[in-house]
Amino acid sequence: DKVKCAGVVVAALLILPSCVYTLSKDEFPPEFVFGASTSAYQVEGAASEDGRKPSIWDTFAHSGNGNLYEGDGDITCDQYHKYKEDVQLMSNMGLDAYRFSISWSRLIPDGRGQINPKGLQYYNNLINELISHGIQPHATLHHWDLPQKLEDEYGGWVSRRIVKDFTEYADVCFREFGDRVKYWTTVNEANVFAVFGYDLGMLQPQHCSPSYDFNCSKGNSSTEPYLVTHNILLSHGSASRLYRNKYKRKQNGFIGFNLITIGVAPQTNSSEDIIATQRVQDFYHGWYLNPFIFGEYPETMKKIVGSRLPSFTQKESNLVKGSMDFLGINFYYSVSVKNDNQTVRMDHRDYISDMAAELIMVGNGTFDEVPITPWSLQRVLSTLKNTYGDFPIYIHENGQQTPRNSPLDDWPRVKYLQEYIGCMLDALRSGFNVKGYFVWSFLDAFELLSGYETSYGLYYIDLKDPSLRRQPKLSAKWYSDFLKTRRPMD
Ligand code: NOJ
Repeated sequence: DKVKCAGVVVAALLILPSCVYTLSKDEFPPEFVFGASTSAYQVEGAASEDGRKPSIWDTFAHSGNGNLYEGDGDITCDQYHKYKEDVQLMSNMGLDAYRFSISWSRLIPDGRGQINPKGLQYYNNLINELISHGIQPHATLHHWDLPQKLEDEYGGWVSRRIVKDFTEYADVCFREFGDRVKYWTTVNEANVFAVFGYDLGMLQPQHCSPSYDFNCSKGNSSTEPYLVTHNILLSHGSASRLYRNKYKRKQNGFIGFNLITIGVAPQTNSSEDIIATQRVQDFYHGWYLNPFIFGEYPETMKKIVGSRLPSFTQKESNLVKGSMDFLGINFYYSVSVKNDNQTVRMDHRDYISDMAAELIMVGNGTFDEVPITPWSLQRVLSTLKNTYGDFPIYIHENGQQTPRNSPLDDWPRVKYLQEYIGCMLDALRSGFNVKGYFVWSFLDAFELLSGYETSYGLYYIDLKDPSLRRQPKLSAKWYSDFLKTRRPMD
């Protein structure tokens, strides 16, 4: 056993990069926030309790229709009942902030109209609990769980009617919680929602082109992702304007937006791959950031998508432009880009087919355990800064996926976090305007594309144990130690 143990120690020393020993929270500016993230449907559970009604995510999870995984968020981590215990863990861990989302259909079960008093109570309780432990609440309004009622009534995000309903929902949240919540994100990973939900058919509401060989046939994938994005941008713009006119002076908070970002580089030096890389930037990031910063979609997209891409009226452009106070980015991995003219080939699309590019993950990883490429997060930051200017950025999600029942000694996750947090420090020293960093995820949650097969959590939950006890992984201990590090006094 001694030999085995010595082996483990030596292996650990070899694996750990030298920065581990010097990385200290004190090296970050005092106002830089470190937190962890979750979203309502992925951790709350209590799906049909206390007046909550289904969202499109409940419907998708229960459909069994082309799902990539089994399971649902009916119970998941049961944070609805265990929020006090969870906030206590966050506090023990030393988190500065918690990023969570509000379930629209828990707060306003039909999407508009009547507020559910129990839903209101729950979010007030959660927020108060966080505040009383000195933890900043960072709330997302839409983490993909649109009330099913609005989907049934008028097609949800595909319809312009969503703008009014979303703005009214945001109004309720600002009014009820805005005295304590200062950091709002309107929509999570809008670019993934628009493409995976309305083109690839892999996520709710599972629309895809009838020609795509996947078990979904409704929708029109050549127009819907663009319509959905347009309506998301208008909804954000409208909620942001409302906040600035009605609440900002008193509440003094910030309205942000969230996107998945990827590090990109051309696969070869060929001009085709170099041009394709720029196209990928535009389709991934520019689709949203160009309107926010310049009031227009990127020229490349206008050219390729043509009349299928909605155009902004002057009024709409004014609404969207400048409406984002900060950008939340979710970052997991990097890709190299290969030009792919066969846009109609459906079998290995990674993203919207108009992009005409193949994305190849950098490194030897798989989506189950992605390679660590911190330099590439720096690259994303500098591309964003060079293209769009110096707006504040939060890393809203970053974390490593592992099989759900892997050992609690989750070295791959520890190493991943160390490297990216080290990269944050470099980024700050190089003058990037990064304000905070959140690990995805605080708990082993109901996962997006894998249900309960893989997870990202700092805490493991054995779903067979009725108490759903939170068990700290090594990464939880590592993060906590890091958060509590103080440089020795000189
Ligand atoms: C993206 C999403 O925001 C979150 O819901 C998801 O679970 C993680 N990143 C991991 O895929």
